[in-house]
Amino acid sequence: MKRIYIKELANNVGQEVMISGWVDVRRDHGKLIFIDLRDMSGKVQMVALPNHTEAHALANTVRPEWVVQVNGKVNARPERMVKKDELNGAVELEILSITVLNEAQTPPIDVREDGRIIHEDIRLKYRYLDLRRPRLQNNIRMRDKIISFFREYMHKYDFVEIETPMMMKGTPEGSREYLVPSRLEPGKFYALPQSPQQFKQLCMVAGFEKYFQIARCMRDEDLRGDRQPEFTQLDYEMSFVNQEDVLSFTEPMFIELVQKLFPEKTISQIPFPRITYKESIEKYGSDKPDMRKDKNNPNELAFAWIVDFPMFEKTSDGNIQAAHHPFCSIKDEDVEKFMKGEDLFNIRANSYDLVLNGYELSSGSIRIHKSDMQKKVFELLKVSEEEQQRKFAHMLEAFKYGAPPHGGFAPGIDRIAMILLGEPNIREVIAFPKTGEGKDLMMDAPSSVSPKQLQDLGIKIIS
Ligand code: AMO
Repeated sequence: MKRIYIKELANNVGQEVMISGWVDVRRDHGKLIFIDLRDMSGKVQMVALPNHTEAHALANTVRPEWVVQVNGKVNARPERMVKKDELNGAVELEILSITVLNEAQTPPIDVREDGRIIHEDIRLKYRYLDLRRPRLQNNIRMRDKIISFFREYMHKYDFVEIETPMMMKGTPEGSREYLVPSRLEPGKFYALPQSPQQFKQLCMVAGFEKYFQIARCMRDEDLRGDRQPEFTQLDYEMSFVNQEDVLSFTEPMFIELVQKLFPEKTISQIPFPRITYKESIEKYGSDKPDMRKDKNNPNELAFAWIVDFPMFEKTSDGNIQAAHHPFCSIKDEDVEKFMKGEDLFNIRANSYDLVLNGYELSSGSIRIHKSDMQKKVFELLKVSEEEQQRKFAHMLEAFKYGAPPHGGFAPGIDRIAMILLGEPNIREVIAFPKTGEGKDLMMDAPSSVSPKQLQDLGIKIIS
């Protein structure tokens, strides 16, 4: 007999069927034994009757989280027992036979509740069990729907998905990078991408015009509830566009995402308000203002654009750095100051953020596409000629071969999922997240490696 999914049972009333899954609960009611069985599609109540002697005896032995295969007959429940709002509320499976596919020890955490009161370290250590809880099943499945929505949307508008390298030479996104030692060239390292920024710009030089990627990014930064060392962006880039083009492409995409996948939510203002960085700081004291009218309403979504970010900012030790990254172009009105190298901290870039309910959802900019302008930015950032060549020769060179004007954006998928699913942190929408200390408690990473591996890589640990 072919296995069917639990959600299909209601279409099979009166039939004998086979289902497989995990025992959710078992309840003994005298001679009747009730077992709720769970598969990826839902749950059903099954009953073992004393007249099916063998099945009844076996039903007595099964425990929560055992994996079983059950042959049974789908019975309609009597009218007064029907639970209208539940999947399979109108049916019950009469167990004819049970095959135990695998037993389970008593799980260290309860997987039926929402899990919020369980210490997160335990949840993360047993993440494969934690993920069984319906809340997390729903989060991860909705995350998939969000990603598929974006992918389809991008393809509908002729973007091409291009995978860019995970082993590269570092990109200046403002964080520390993770390094990967090279075995073939001891003493040399790859960097993991903080984002595909440089590659996506090089895809524009390569003539793709519309690139996107569901991109994994890695940053060695201090973690918070909305930050992970590994995260995912919907990264995109377009040629021959200005800021208005990027904003007016992006805004309807987010509106459609909400309408299609989260119809219970309302967007407080359409079109999304646009606020300059300066205004936002002056008025709200933040560059990611929470514009909700009612902060207690879990279904309100307040998007806002923040535009005209400064190109440069002061570091804590008084030095200069790019406020976003060094590839942003300068606003026409400020180009003169830029060329003269004057009043640097008041020079604005063609760079913009999308914020949602007080979180930065995305950043982007129209880029520099000319070599001399790019060199000027590096010069103002006090990047020596030697360092420019060492780190960015490929960009400076590429811009000399017919680079089109281009710009893009990179919404963080984890933050989008977190906010839309009403979760307090992004770990709840990532299947296998790291702890706040950057650890994978399940696999116990980071971990030591063997002396032989270190030797092969030419690495000596000195502390
Ligand atoms: P930026 O660095 O602003 O821009 O990142 C864009 C978006 O990525 C998400 N994000 C993160 N999410 C989880 N954990 C993190 N540690 C983390 N860091 C960033 C946020 C953020 O808004 N290359 C540029 C984009 C561009 O210019 O096109 C970039 O990466 O949602």
